[in-house]
Amino acid sequence: MPETAFVSGRFLPLADAKVPIEDRGFQFGDGVYEVIRTYGGRPFKLEAHFARLNRSAKALDLRQPYSLEQWDGYISEGLRLAGFRESKIYLQITRGVAPRDHAFPPDLQPTVVMTIRELHALPTAVQAAGVDAMTVQDLRWGRCDIKSLNLLPNVLARQQAKQAGVFEAILVKNGEVTEGSVSNVMVVEGRTLITAPEGPLILSGVTREVVLALARREGLGLKECCPSREQLYAATEVFLTGTTVELLSVVRIDGKVIGTGQPGPVTRSLAKRFAEQTA
Ligand code: PDD
Repeated sequence: MPETAFVSGRFLPLADAKVPIEDRGFQFGDGVYEVIRTYGGRPFKLEAHFARLNRSAKALDLRQPYSLEQWDGYISEGLRLAGFRESKIYLQITRGVAPRDHAFPPDLQPTVVMTIRELHALPTAVQAAGVDAMTVQDLRWGRCDIKSLNLLPNVLARQQAKQAGVFEAILVKNGEVTEGSVSNVMVVEGRTLITAPEGPLILSGVTREVVLALARREGLGLKECCPSREQLYAATEVFLTGTTVELLSVVRIDGKVIGTGQPGPVTRSLAKRFAEQTA
């Protein structure tokens, strides 16, 4: 079974997996999710993803039905069935199935879905050269720390970037850089990293946390505050972090060259340390 799905306790081929149309995830986006990737065939930072899944579910008063050990077991089984060298694991929990009504009934049985697809890493040439990005107005709600299924502003921002022929949309709220549509954003000024603080303005990235720990170990300065758009343009380096982008240099934003126009020394050194952690 290559592309594999799991629906509330049962594995099946992805193409055969279905949920009822009155699932509240489908009708209201009433649910939470995680994206985890493997390195060497093993899920990276499963505990951190599990902790964030629990935080997101709790914030929505949603029951997260499985323990870490149960998730670990289901994921291992899914990876075994799928048999890819490296996989992208998608977990989703919705409040469940009920007649459509905004307010939810108590004690619904949550719908738990997992998909396992082959991971296609970014080409090494793209990693080495860095990418272009554009700034886009951050239209999201006030709880971006919850990894909820409501991704419409992210979807529209990402689509805008795609249509403009750039890799990522960097979200700006009231003149301040929050994060990317699918990534966290790090601004480098010399030997200091500036990035939005954990809190309701951003999704607290698992990769962000790993990279900040590496930065501390490298003796870099760290300012957790939202950079201004001007700081972004004037940065010596800018890079993105995330499960799918890993650590990715941004060399042009809104057509303006960042730093030397090539991945800088801080980004390259952190990317090297990150690669050592995942090897
Ligand atoms: N998203 N910020 C946003 C808005 C994100 O959607 C993501 C990841 C991140 C990075 O988080 P992490 O390092 O834990 O992957 C930051 C996933 C990959 C997605 O929605 O597909």
